[in-house]
Amino acid sequence: MSKFAAEVDSRRTFAIISHPDAGKTTITEKLLLFGNAIQVAGTVKGKKGTRMATSDWMAMEQQRGISITTSVMQFPYNGRTVNLLDTPGHEDFSEDTYRVLTAVDSALMVIDGAKGVEDRTIKLMEVCRLRDTPIFTFVNKMDREVRDQIEVMDEIEDILKIQCAPITWPIGMGKAFKGIYNLYTDTIHVFEPGKGLTIPDDVRVEGLESDEAKTLLGDLYDDFVEEIELVRGASHEFDLDAYQQGLMTPVFFGTALSNFGVREMLNDFVEWAPKPLSRNTETREVDPHEEGLSGFIFKIQANMDPKHRDRIAFMRICSGRYTRGMKMKHVRIGKDVKIADAVTFLAGDRSNVEEAVSGDIIGLHNHGTIQIGDTFTEGEDLKFSGIPHFAPELFRRVRLADPLKMKQLQKGLQQLCEEGATQLFMPTKNNDLIVGAVGVLQFDVVAQRLKDEYKVECIYEPVNVFTARWIDCDDDRKLEEFKRKAGDNLSVDGGGHLTYLASTRVNLAMMEERWPDISFRSTREH
Ligand code: G4P
Repeated sequence: MSKFAAEVDSRRTFAIISHPDAGKTTITEKLLLFGNAIQVAGTVKGKKGTRMATSDWMAMEQQRGISITTSVMQFPYNGRTVNLLDTPGHEDFSEDTYRVLTAVDSALMVIDGAKGVEDRTIKLMEVCRLRDTPIFTFVNKMDREVRDQIEVMDEIEDILKIQCAPITWPIGMGKAFKGIYNLYTDTIHVFEPGKGLTIPDDVRVEGLESDEAKTLLGDLYDDFVEEIELVRGASHEFDLDAYQQGLMTPVFFGTALSNFGVREMLNDFVEWAPKPLSRNTETREVDPHEEGLSGFIFKIQANMDPKHRDRIAFMRICSGRYTRGMKMKHVRIGKDVKIADAVTFLAGDRSNVEEAVSGDIIGLHNHGTIQIGDTFTEGEDLKFSGIPHFAPELFRRVRLADPLKMKQLQKGLQQLCEEGATQLFMPTKNNDLIVGAVGVLQFDVVAQRLKDEYKVECIYEPVNVFTARWIDCDDDRKLEEFKRKAGDNLSVDGGGHLTYLASTRVNLAMMEERWPDISFRSTREH
């Protein structure tokens, strides 16, 4: 194998999916600890505390206790290079999360052992299923009084429709939690409470039959041996192919807070999780081992760091190698651009990337020319497919508190909407600015950021819009006629696309019937 192929194959690019509060932030922090990206836990997580979060960028996230932005964390582990893409947990940011999941090769599902499968997990799994994303499962909070774990496993199988193959199994729970037992290596990993801030020692007992195991488990021993028999009988044996096809999930138990069980999961994760996969474009499949660089933008983030007032476009590299200073073709606008200063984000630090290969994520400085869904190559005209924009469901007109700041408002809205969480619509008949969002919290985020980053105060007003549809038509004459007749409801979105803003469901249905040659699309491929 060439050096390049080996480098590509060492990549493990994934995201964590979970219901809020299941422990995603806590486990992220522990993964960074194992990857030596941080030295002491607590430097990442700062929700209620004073320490600044590494993966939480903005003060707002801390105030609200949710993760709004997506960041990318790279760290080496056991000879692999792990790329962890953080996903916003709040449901108002589902579209953002959706696009992050198009940029990964696998996902880690974190489940609260006391709560089992929750709403948000169900939705995220639906998204993963669209691409048969392989899923690792970590059942968290074993240091608490949790539910019967066989029941939780059944719930995962029934509700999420994926076979479970437990790799480790918890010994006791809550105050009586003693550790985990690896069903495949016949090893007990012994739990020592209160070691969550650093990497704990790996205390092992080999063999469930051993005297040491009997001493360790004490009164629990007989019941546990019986439980393991039951678990082996009632669950599936791990099958790597079935996992990689998204049909089966290996299940691990532990407590992220005490940093226990995470290492065992991570060790198997870097072995089993898929290396960078091929990706589809509109014309052909792109193999990650191809030498020519290609990649797509799945996320744009403005002003991540107030000290650097710029926007970053996150690109998933799908083939080839990025080297500093290289030329790339920005396919949509047909221009070559020289990229001297791509960045990665490691624990809040920005460092210039010298090199990156398929599977890696790099951040490109965006001065307004890059949009979500854009493809970059070393010359070939490719366009990666499958990165949709969804029609927003909520709309507000934006008015200025100080009318003299119109320019700043327009610029701010345009830039914030480029990030993809909200969308901007500018009616063709008047000067209104209408913001569309999938969830109501996004309006607050936009207002707050306009204030903080663009120094404009805005006021929202209700607007009579039920939904937006992107307009497409092959027949230019028909399109012109439509534009004349439907002008009052037409607008241009932030990407310059014509959209129809329907006032009611009935209005939309009527227009669709009246204009059979016009397509009213509820999603727009970037
Ligand atoms: P999220 O990102 O998925 O929303 O969850 P997060 O990691 O923030 O964890 C949610 C809460 O659950 C936190 O408590 C966290 O400390 C706790 N937690 C995470 N893992 C474990 C675990 O293994 N055992 C126990 N007992 N608790 C766990 P919090 O009170 O909301 O926040 P904080 O006061 O700890 O910051």
